[in-house]
Amino acid sequence: MATRVLLTGGAGYIGSHTYVALCEAGYECIVLDNFSNAAHGVPDVLEKITGAPVQLVEGDVLDRGCLDHIFHAHHIDAVIHFAALKSVGESIANPLAYMQCNIGGLVTLMQAMKAAGVYHLVFSSSASVYGNPEALPVPETAPLSYASPYGYTKLACEQIIAQAGAADPKWAVGVLRYFNPVGAHPSGLIGEDPKDVPNNLMPYIAKVAAGELPQLSVFGNDYPTQDGTGVRDYIHVCDLAAGHVLSLKSLLEENAGHLVNLGTGQGYSVLELLDAYSKACGRDLPYQIVERRPGDPAASFADPQRARDVLGFQASHSLDEMCASSWHWINTGAQKPG
Ligand code: WQD
Repeated sequence: MATRVLLTGGAGYIGSHTYVALCEAGYECIVLDNFSNAAHGVPDVLEKITGAPVQLVEGDVLDRGCLDHIFHAHHIDAVIHFAALKSVGESIANPLAYMQCNIGGLVTLMQAMKAAGVYHLVFSSSASVYGNPEALPVPETAPLSYASPYGYTKLACEQIIAQAGAADPKWAVGVLRYFNPVGAHPSGLIGEDPKDVPNNLMPYIAKVAAGELPQLSVFGNDYPTQDGTGVRDYIHVCDLAAGHVLSLKSLLEENAGHLVNLGTGQGYSVLELLDAYSKACGRDLPYQIVERRPGDPAASFADPQRARDVLGFQASHSLDEMCASSWHWINTGAQKPG
């Protein structure tokens, strides 16, 4: 009997790519999604990619009754928790929604897991818990802070997980601190599909390349970096998905938790990413330099050593491959889930 994994938020950007990777690794997946930030057509596309029907529950991770039903009906062995709000800017405007969804959602999920006797959990955390890192590359032992309500919720969730584990050693939780996920599945059938004007760099550049936005605004070119623009650790979403499979495998085999960065260890500036995307789409892309965005650190990129040691994780995709896969997804946009 295949190991059965519940993916909360499994129709979203990271969730859908992880779904494919888990199916390819022989796991049986059940998707819970409220489609607040995912297209309703994604499950059909996942069926097209994997060749098998998607076991889908449309519902909310805050709905305890829905969760109890899933654990009862599907005999879940482990959970990967993606379902959360993730816009830094939106969290500043609407912090209570972020507290309710991100913190309340995790607590409700863990209560339902405990009631069902399920203690293997992979948690989607973020490099935003490092705030403005003092030293680079950033190890997992770096000081923790937050620069937005979004970052606060990720930090609070990590603390909640630690407290639950201290109270009950049955918990085995993989905490994965994502750096900057970008790119798309090689099929071009799933990718990052923000509903409104993108907050993040790569999807914004993609819309400029597609002619949907006039130009990129570069948030500051006076940072202490190689070309003055912000530096980040961009990681291909398929590498990130592979990291989740390794995390889950480790939890099930070791029955012990871990906390690791998921990044490449290589930082690229805004202008370097723009240049790479220009190569991918075959034309120079227009941009203007504007004021810094409040709260942005100058540079942030991972020390990937612990993920290598603990999980055997090593990102493999280059920046050019990240941009090419994003452009391929944009170009097959007509097939994007409706
Ligand atoms: C990257 C760089 C900007 C947009 C955030 C969250 C993080 C994660 C990823 C969820 C920065 C610059 C951006 C634009 C620009 N999200 N930029 N013009 O801020 O590193 O991380 O998203 O997990 O938790 O904090 O990513 O893509 O927004 O910015 O110049 O239109 O691009 O200043 O240097 P960020 P980003």
